[in-house]
Amino acid sequence: MITGPRVSLRPVEERDYPLIHEWMNHPEVWWYMDYERPVSLADVREDAERARTEGVPFVIVAGDRPIGRIGLNSFRRRDRIASLYMYIGEPACWGHGYAKEGLLTLLGYAFERYDLNRVELWLLADNDRAMRTYERCGFVAEATLPERSFKDGRFVDRIVMSVTRDAFERARSSAAEARAGTAADFVTPPDPAHE
Ligand SMILES: CC(C)(COP(=O)(O)OP(=O)(O)OC[C@H]1O[C@@H](n2cnc3c(N)ncnc32)[C@H](O)[C@@H]1OP(=O)(O)O)[C@@H](O)C(=O)NCCC(=O)NCCS
Repeated sequence: MITGPRVSLRPVEERDYPLIHEWMNHPEVWWYMDYERPVSLADVREDAERARTEGVPFVIVAGDRPIGRIGLNSFRRRDRIASLYMYIGEPACWGHGYAKEGLLTLLGYAFERYDLNRVELWLLADNDRAMRTYERCGFVAEATLPERSFKDGRFVDRIVMSVTRDAFERARSSAAEARAGTAADFVTPPDPAHE
């Protein structure tokens, strides 16, 4: 378990599979990610096992509630680089700062634990929300890959972003300062069962 100021990250467990199954099949979550839909429970299991073999997969937990996934894979030791993926599984939980906190927590752990120089990721060019989240954690856009992916019947552009350890440290300090001023505004995740 990695504990951040407001969210924690724990390894993906078998009991998470039904929830991950729901998250991965959610049309809005799926649209911005890079896998085929529909996803079966067997696919979720296979994906989680591969994620464990090839990298470090976590569930993001706010309070005691699992709300999404984050992790690293494609570690290249010589270059001291790894690739990042993440999503908050329920759109009702978007916009509450959980992704930014989860990302800062993972990066703080990973830069230290794996002695990384850089973390990179790809995102859809129209994913403004993710772009903003990554920028707030120190990522910068490095390149646009035109018509790189075929999504739901059309070609779409992807953007490559990366963050160095120094840029991350600066972003983490700014976030800590901002957090000190807004501690009272951070809310517990909305429960979809009561909405
Ligand atoms: C992208 C995603 C992880 C962001 O999660 P989130 O919990 O809503 O993000 P946060 O609440 O931490 O917000 C992060 C920043 O984005 C900003 N933001 C929120 N909604 C936004 C929008 N529609 N457009 C632009 N910026 C937005 C927030 O204001 C915040 O910036 P700030 O700190 O300057 O205020 C989440 O929307 C998601 O899981 N989307 C589907 C899957 C996905 O896109 N994964 C990433 C693929 S690369």
